[in-house]
Amino acid sequence: MKKYILKDYEEMSSKAADIVTSQIKNNPNSVLGLATGSTPEGMYKHLVQRHKDGEISFKDIVTFNLDEYYGLSSDHPQSYRYFMEDHLLYHVDIDPDNVHIPDGLTKDIPEMCKNYDQLIEEAGQIDLQILGIGINGHIGFNEPGEKFVKGTHLVDLTDDTLDANSRFFKSDEQVPARAITMGVGSILNAKSIILLASGKNKADAIKMAFEGPITPQVPASILQLHPDVTLIVDEEAGSKIKGEKNE
Ligand code: GLP
Repeated sequence: MKKYILKDYEEMSSKAADIVTSQIKNNPNSVLGLATGSTPEGMYKHLVQRHKDGEISFKDIVTFNLDEYYGLSSDHPQSYRYFMEDHLLYHVDIDPDNVHIPDGLTKDIPEMCKNYDQLIEEAGQIDLQILGIGINGHIGFNEPGEKFVKGTHLVDLTDDTLDANSRFFKSDEQVPARAITMGVGSILNAKSIILLASGKNKADAIKMAFEGPITPQVPASILQLHPDVTLIVDEEAGSKIKGEKNE
């Protein structure tokens, strides 16, 4: 595993944007796995700017998002589709047909999940998967549990996650209790993975995930088995793991 412990959120964001930029330049047809949350916002800002500066094009890029709230329509301001449009998709030259985000309003969950996994497979798997991490060690919405789940599936969100998500909603009752997420199988099938984390509330999750045992109780710990993972954290999120600060 490559590890970057960087000064702050801004350095973390620009390092992540550098890796995505290289991926796009090396392979303009790349399949990217995208994440939402406050952590990758800065990275998306850099990518939009680099597109505006003419450095990168998303014309032939294909994307698959990790997850979506169950029950939220795509035009709900807290839906992950809305987040992606707002932070990246509407600002770059991506072909809307190449954008994939689980449908939070699907009537047929098993069918939608099966199709989503099939589309990822048909696209030749994800070249570069971007991940954040939950304070309980979740990736996408793969919550701590008894076992790892391979494919896209519906999950009941844990109290920790509901709590963390409540900051985006007007009242607790509005926080969706369920979500659809890619499974850890599709995440592990990605050819390379970057995981970003910032702030001291992520320090324990980073330590458990990368220096603890591999267990479904800490879903991100399975990344220890992947041959090409790059961890990019700021000093606070990296404060409990071994390693020198990178300049
Ligand atoms: C949600 C998302 C995850 C994300 C996590 C952390 O649970 N499903 O993909 O990594 O939040 O979010 P934040 O970056 O806002 O801390």
